[in-house]
Amino acid sequence: MVGAGQLARMTHQAAVDLDVELAVVAGSTGDPAVSAGAPHRLARPADRDALLAATAGAPVVTFDHELVPGWILREMEAAGRMLRPGSGALAFAQDKLHARSELAGAGFPVPAHRPVAGAPQVVTFGDEHGWPVVLKSRSGGYDGRGVIVVGAAGEVPDLAWVEAGEPAWLVEEHLELAAELAAVVARSPSGEVVSYPVVETTQVDGICRHLVVPAGVAASLAGEATTMAVGLAERIGATGICALELFVTTDGRLLVNELALRPHNSGHATIEACVTSQFHNHLRAVLDWPLGATDLVAPAVALVNVITPDADVDPAANLPAALAVRAAAVHLYGKGSRPGRKVGHVTSLAATPAEALATARAAADILLGR
Ligand SMILES: Nc1ncnc2c1ncn2[C@@H]1O[C@H](COP(=O)(O)OP(=O)(O)OP(=O)(O)O)[C@@H](O)[C@H]1O
Ligand SMILES: [Mg+2]
Repeated sequence: MVGAGQLARMTHQAAVDLDVELAVVAGSTGDPAVSAGAPHRLARPADRDALLAATAGAPVVTFDHELVPGWILREMEAAGRMLRPGSGALAFAQDKLHARSELAGAGFPVPAHRPVAGAPQVVTFGDEHGWPVVLKSRSGGYDGRGVIVVGAAGEVPDLAWVEAGEPAWLVEEHLELAAELAAVVARSPSGEVVSYPVVETTQVDGICRHLVVPAGVAASLAGEATTMAVGLAERIGATGICALELFVTTDGRLLVNELALRPHNSGHATIEACVTSQFHNHLRAVLDWPLGATDLVAPAVALVNVITPDADVDPAANLPAALAVRAAAVHLYGKGSRPGRKVGHVTSLAATPAEALATARAAADILLGR
């Protein structure tokens, strides 16, 4: 697995269960999967030679991030590496413009958008579609980094608009959101697909704060989200976990936001909440083994991310106190505290989403010293 963050760390745990020999390709020995004991090799995501060396001999190569440039992925494939997902599918998670235009072309509903190579084009779009608008970095964004809401024509920030001769940003309509959903599916190379119950996520400042299952939307809408995720995974030939983030607008539209082709934050609760976790199913899928059941084992689930406000908060020091919330399942990633950094999560199962959320939040608050 290329990448050694918390996704690789939790995939490592699944690999231990299945006795799968999983090595992670880490940027540094302090990475969460390495500190959890996963066998590792060192290579930076943009270092072609190091990546080829680190993945030599691996029957299958998968990913915990989208950071390996497309040209290196293609060279890895040309050198015989079995990438799952492959470079073509990964491009959908790496380049928001590519994803938006390809998916729109394939009939998936997406927000109105346009590539922009300068402030005047942003102003033109805003005048046509109305203000505010949202600027998005085509690649490299996560947790809201690379997403900028622009309120008016006079407020377009000064950005590096062009990268390697191409627009580095896209602009899109600012939507009035009634809800945000995530539909997580797993697909194997031989075409088997399973889908997890749709999750309702809540973002603050572009970063997922918490999620609940079942989502508080009509079952028919959740069903549509699942249908879209399955259709999309098949369309792009995804292998492993494919997580689709969706917008529900106040006027009732369901639109594709973005997708990830790896285990995803919106699937972390599956560790306790489903018969087979997304980490198990990711491994099973990339190895082309039968996929596991995704049924919920409780009526309702909630997950609260542990996001440190600053470097002084030490969730590990508060762990024993948080564990007194007995119905909460605490996960810490072994990451140092930094402002706005996800360092863990708490899951709770209960009779209702509200009850589960209250329990998970109680433990998360204690971890954060609140
Ligand atoms: N067009 C939009 N209209 C309204 N809100 C938006 C729009 N685009 C993004 N947002 C808000 O910003 C959040 C982050 O956007 P997006 O998912 O594109 O960014 P990201 O940084 O790549 O996120 P991730 O951490 O999921 O990779 C969304 O979940 C949503 O809450
Ligand atoms: Mg997102």
